[in-house]
Amino acid sequence: MSTQRAKLVVGNWKMHGRISENAALLTEVAAGASALQKDVRVGVCVPCPYLAQSQALLGGSVVKWGVQDVSAHAGGAYTGEVAAEMAVDFGVTYAIVGHSERRAYHRESPELVGAKTLRALEAGLTPIVCVGETLEERESGATEQVIGTQLDAVLALLSEEQAAGIVVAYEPVWAIGTGKTAQPEQAQAVHAFLRRKLQEKGAAVANALLLYGGSVKPDNARELFAQGDIDGGLIGGASLKSKDFLAICRAAQTALQ
Ligand code: PGA
Repeated sequence: MSTQRAKLVVGNWKMHGRISENAALLTEVAAGASALQKDVRVGVCVPCPYLAQSQALLGGSVVKWGVQDVSAHAGGAYTGEVAAEMAVDFGVTYAIVGHSERRAYHRESPELVGAKTLRALEAGLTPIVCVGETLEERESGATEQVIGTQLDAVLALLSEEQAAGIVVAYEPVWAIGTGKTAQPEQAQAVHAFLRRKLQEKGAAVANALLLYGGSVKPDNARELFAQGDIDGGLIGGASLKSKDFLAICRAAQTALQ
């Protein structure tokens, strides 16, 4: 292991949850996470209607909460959008930006994802910038070109100091929700490429946390998190069950030891 960086495990609930069901999940995660060592950080990115509930149940615990998207605008006539500043009103720490589901279903361009990242940073949030290639792109050998373009569009808008405050999540589109995980060495190779790109932005940026996402489960998390440039995970399906999510958090702790 080449690094002293902290580990970070963030749940991405996507469009799941109900007030009645969230309470148990949030309290169980808060209780379980309290037993982790402090260089394992934990977050959950919930749908916006559940931010107040997350703040009420996670406030004072070690678990931070976040949103799954933010507007590129600070405010104004943008029906349906949520500004980063509004999330801040609910004590939010993390903002996922550029998730592949938003790039695909909402046609978010690399430039728009860059603008959202900048807005999140300016509001005081930690953006989790998602990058990833489709199966076709991987098979045609375009992985580095695709994720390089996605990351460059973000870094181009940020100062070195701002860039040092982002988290990057590598999520191969073919691994999300499919049960197909990238092999740990395959993921590590992409993370090493991303690490080099961050380093090019400046020495301070080289230690930005790099998460892997895409069918991370309790039984594969440990091996993934043991890779030198994988600093944790962005967890979809398995973040909806406290037992699985906490097992993944403990795998991050094991990888640190
Ligand atoms: P998954 O989702 O863990 O269900 O594959 C990950 C994500 O989309 O962030």
